[in-house]
Amino acid sequence: MISKYINMKDDIDFEELREPAEAIKEGNLVLMPTETVYGLGANALDPIAVKNIFVAKGRESDNPLIVHISDILMLKELIQEVGEVEQKLIDEFWPGPLTIIFKKKEIVPSIVTAGLDTVGIRMPSNIIARKLIEYSGVPIAAPSANISGKPSGTNIEDIINEFDGKVEYIIDGGSVDIGLESTVVKVVDGIVHVLRPGKITAEEISKLTGNAVIDKHVLMQLSSNERPESPGMKYRHYAPNTKCIMVYSKDTEKLIKKINEISFGKNVLVLGRTKNISRYTSSNKLDMGDTLEEIAKNIFTLLRKVDNYNVDLVIIEGTEKEGLGLAINNRLIRACEYNYIEI
Ligand code: TXA
Ligand code: MG
Repeated sequence: MISKYINMKDDIDFEELREPAEAIKEGNLVLMPTETVYGLGANALDPIAVKNIFVAKGRESDNPLIVHISDILMLKELIQEVGEVEQKLIDEFWPGPLTIIFKKKEIVPSIVTAGLDTVGIRMPSNIIARKLIEYSGVPIAAPSANISGKPSGTNIEDIINEFDGKVEYIIDGGSVDIGLESTVVKVVDGIVHVLRPGKITAEEISKLTGNAVIDKHVLMQLSSNERPESPGMKYRHYAPNTKCIMVYSKDTEKLIKKINEISFGKNVLVLGRTKNISRYTSSNKLDMGDTLEEIAKNIFTLLRKVDNYNVDLVIIEGTEKEGLGLAINNRLIRACEYNYIEI
């Protein structure tokens, strides 16, 4: 198959979405932008189309997909009921980068949810994504667009080689806004559990609902006998082939000293903040940006680059664990396979 490429980087002509929307309806795969990361989309109500997502990604069949909707009517068709707390979350954060887990209705094929009786739903704020769903007339199941285990795709250039020829359409919406996948939450007995941190932070959720519990596996490795709330947590994720270590200190001087100590006499690559980068002694360095927003946007593209450097070790500056920093830490700690020091 030759993938058809649609360029919506600079100006968006919604009419160009009619064909890919039709392709979705007919059971084909479409690479689509969202505000968080690119998605590998298919008709969520078509089990064969969804099966093809798992095949194209090389994804384990016990890892459920997120279903994307364009309006609230679609939600009502897919799920049993919207509780009071879920309604608050919807009113405040949809459309946007928040996935809410609900009890599913029969209509959602079990392949989408990996056999679970719950389904994760999100209404993206990205207008291309929403129009594509609207025009196709069906909810779209879409995992992050990356071969399983690799960093999620935040621009087409990073992922075109992984998916060219495997999808009917590639819709290029330019670089995504956020750069990290959506926050995933599940409400249990009125309490919001954050299963995967993202741009919408536990602090913001807590302010709205009065509570938010961060699942312990957000920053901690699962032991072999544990069953995670979110099946995706148990898989190797984002890790380059080169060994990586994350180093964090609240004290910038200590941080720089430690990273230079680890680098000494070794062939390393350092990923550091713009303001610190000139102070690292290693000759291989990549600039992560300064603010948490910049780091979130850059991190997956940077992680995709590190294997080109042929170094023995990649040393990555960690971030604070508050706000968006928690989401960055959650991804970096996996990229480093829990190889982490805080001083
Ligand atoms: O921002 C995003 O969420 C992106 C864009 C494309 O929307 N999608 C995304 O999908 O990140 P994926 O498949 O890469 O990650 C979905 C995560 C996994 O960790 C999965 O285990 C969890 O959501 N998940 C999905 N359904 C679930 C459910 N019913 N219960 C618990 N966790 C669920
Ligand atoms: Mg993913």
